[in-house]
Amino acid sequence: MSIEKLLEKNIDESKQGEVLQLSENEKSGRKMYIESYGCQMNFSDSEIVASILHNEGFSTTKDITEADLVFVNTCSIREKAELTVRKRLEFYNSIKRDKNPGMLVGVLGCMAERLKEQFLEEEKLVDIVVGPDSYRDLPNLIAQVEDGRKAVNVFLSLEETYADISPVRLGGNGVTAFVSITRGCDNMCTFCVVPYTRGRERSRNPESILKECQDLFNDGYREITLLGQNVDSYLWYGGGAKKDFKKASDTAKANSLNFANLLDKVAQVNPKLRIRFSTSNPQDMGVDVIDTMAKHENICNYIHLPVQSGSSRILKLMNRGYNRDKYLKLIDDIKQRIPDCAISMDMIIGFCTETEEDHKETLSLMDYVTYDFGYMFKYSVRPNTPAARMEDDIPEETKQRRLAEIIEKQQAHSLLHMREKLGNSYEVLIEGISKKSEQHYYGRTTYNSAVVFEKGNHRLGDYVMVKIEDCTSATLKGKVI
Ligand code: 5AD
Ligand code: SF4
Repeated sequence: MSIEKLLEKNIDESKQGEVLQLSENEKSGRKMYIESYGCQMNFSDSEIVASILHNEGFSTTKDITEADLVFVNTCSIREKAELTVRKRLEFYNSIKRDKNPGMLVGVLGCMAERLKEQFLEEEKLVDIVVGPDSYRDLPNLIAQVEDGRKAVNVFLSLEETYADISPVRLGGNGVTAFVSITRGCDNMCTFCVVPYTRGRERSRNPESILKECQDLFNDGYREITLLGQNVDSYLWYGGGAKKDFKKASDTAKANSLNFANLLDKVAQVNPKLRIRFSTSNPQDMGVDVIDTMAKHENICNYIHLPVQSGSSRILKLMNRGYNRDKYLKLIDDIKQRIPDCAISMDMIIGFCTETEEDHKETLSLMDYVTYDFGYMFKYSVRPNTPAARMEDDIPEETKQRRLAEIIEKQQAHSLLHMREKLGNSYEVLIEGISKKSEQHYYGRTTYNSAVVFEKGNHRLGDYVMVKIEDCTSATLKGKVI
């Protein structure tokens, strides 16, 4: 396969723009159109935004030409993600000019936070700029714009978790949902813009998390993914930023709850509710989390554990807080406690000073772990991060070649894992209709692998046993038994 094809196949979240919509019967009054880019947290945030504006009488539409308000929820993680959003803004501009002159345009999320007022100057079309912690202010900001002024709120909070807001489940399948448990990140990896765009880390009240999970189950949902930039770092001690835990009272400290404790409670909401979580940070993931996973049948045997590099020297430059040996020890702990646990990763190649030797260490780490799946990226300098002060010295062709090498290796490993499953039967939760055929359903195993099979008399949200008969590196195919 050519390098171009391999690169094309690698998933890049900056391409995931998705338009979200409320159900027909909720249509009334003014209409908004929301498009989301970036991580799952952004998609989950768009559901919070929809909930806040729904209460203001807005409904959603998939037709931008009839929207009174157009929002783009943006990502800053790599330059490419930002370029995608800028292209969309040009597109909105053409719609506004040719078809819908009255529409207002708002930029939400990480790019709003990174560029602030600069956005209004650079992109004359943008009317509203709102950072990830300021969505409650949207009704005021919209009123301000309707009053003829531009509106910006990029205040970052130490407390905001939107705990009391019940997200409007947009564009979903009614079976799987995201539940946000932490916001922000304190880890300060040198390449990463998130601490600057999403602020200090804070955890959401466990009662509100458990209630949301129970409500989702009662509404027919059968799988939830607990979301946070760094879920293993979850710490509830009565509210406030994680960095202020030291100042909490002795009673608050004694009653505090960590991620393993929370996971244990969420798993008990109902044995028929599957639990996943994302993202784990190797620096913070303890064996108590793995033990809790092993204890509960309904916590899926799948961990997304970004590694970023196989070289301890590069990991140190990235300020990841672990080295190669520590990461591999964690992998051994997982495999020892949950032998069939599927593991996926994020990897960055071409970070400042990365040598051929460092790259070989990345390849050999991949051989050791044999990940089930991987998201792989070329290093992209983010302005004002600590790494931006280092020289981005790896030539583009070298980055391209190293990326192609790790993608090729990962594809071989993914295929290996898929082939191992041939002839076996697995429990699959039915999530939707296959994109390729109306006659087939799509679902996932506990290992997060996609399975396609004939519909029969089954319904969305059912658990079925599927015998695997065929596979590609991305999908299993089988028959319900
Ligand atoms: N360049 C390339 N990839 C990055 N990521 C985060 N920051 C950068 C950057 N500056 C990747 C990491 C992270 C994933 C969400 O995006 O692999 O885990
Ligand atoms: Fe992108 Fe990170 Fe912001 Fe998510 S938190 S939208 S991945 S920059």
